[in-house]
Amino acid sequence: MRALVTGGTGRVGSAIAARLEREGYAVLAAGRADGDLARADTARALAARAAEALGGLDLLVHAASEGFAPRPLEEVSESDWDAALGATAKGAFFVAQAAAPHLRRARGAVVMIEDVAAYQPWPSFAAHCAAKAAQAMLTRVLARGLAPEVRVCGVAPGPVAVEREQERRRASETLLERTGTPDDVADAVVFLARARFVTGTTLVVDGGRLLQSTRR
Ligand SMILES: NC(=O)c1ccc[n+]([C@@H]2O[C@H](COP(=O)([O-])OP(=O)(O)OC[C@H]3O[C@@H](n4cnc5c(N)ncnc54)[C@H](OP(=O)(O)O)[C@@H]3O)[C@@H](O)[C@H]2O)c1
Repeated sequence: MRALVTGGTGRVGSAIAARLEREGYAVLAAGRADGDLARADTARALAARAAEALGGLDLLVHAASEGFAPRPLEEVSESDWDAALGATAKGAFFVAQAAAPHLRRARGAVVMIEDVAAYQPWPSFAAHCAAKAAQAMLTRVLARGLAPEVRVCGVAPGPVAVEREQERRRASETLLERTGTPDDVADAVVFLARARFVTGTTLVVDGGRLLQSTRR
């Protein structure tokens, strides 16, 4: 089995890549140095290169994302907006578009690493919420567009890799009163990669964060 993990050098993506390797996958874990996913041409080129290097593709995990920073609505700039939408929404689409023929051939799967921010409006993270909502819609659009050969699912993490000084506050925002880990997300990815009758849906891995109404 062969997997491309975008954002594979990040906190969550590297845990997913390591876990997939332990599950027997050959993995290309891509970071920014492997191509800027905010651009369609480099996003497509990454998928093509991965398929060539690995001899095909059974799984695409899209964990690349940037621009997660609090900003009052009045202060959001065009570059904040472009950063948030770039790798997260545009990259998600164009990597999947170029990976699609390879995934169809292998009867493979796509797993989008979303965010509970796709489903909960946070005024201090307007661009990030919009980008994540766009990406979450792509999970469903691509599930329809690539069926029946390719399944497309999402994982929406809550706080799974947070700075130490934010640990206590972020834990208090969950029902389970603790933060999760990147391995919790990797567990969900492995589950969805194997779930042969699941497509077009998202597994929320957030300790109950979505059910809390804390303002952000
Ligand atoms: N951390 C959390 O608690 C949390 C919670 C909810 C959702 N998530 C989601 O989980 C995913 C991963 O988050 P993370 O915390 O692991 O982020 P991270 O540590 O900041 O890693 C981001 C990854 O994306 C890559 N990247 C960023 N911009 C890129 C670009 N323009 N082109 C190509 N690659 C780019 C980075 O590459 P470089 O290493 O080369 O910079 C890195 O591999 C994101 O979708 C995030 O929204 C995370």
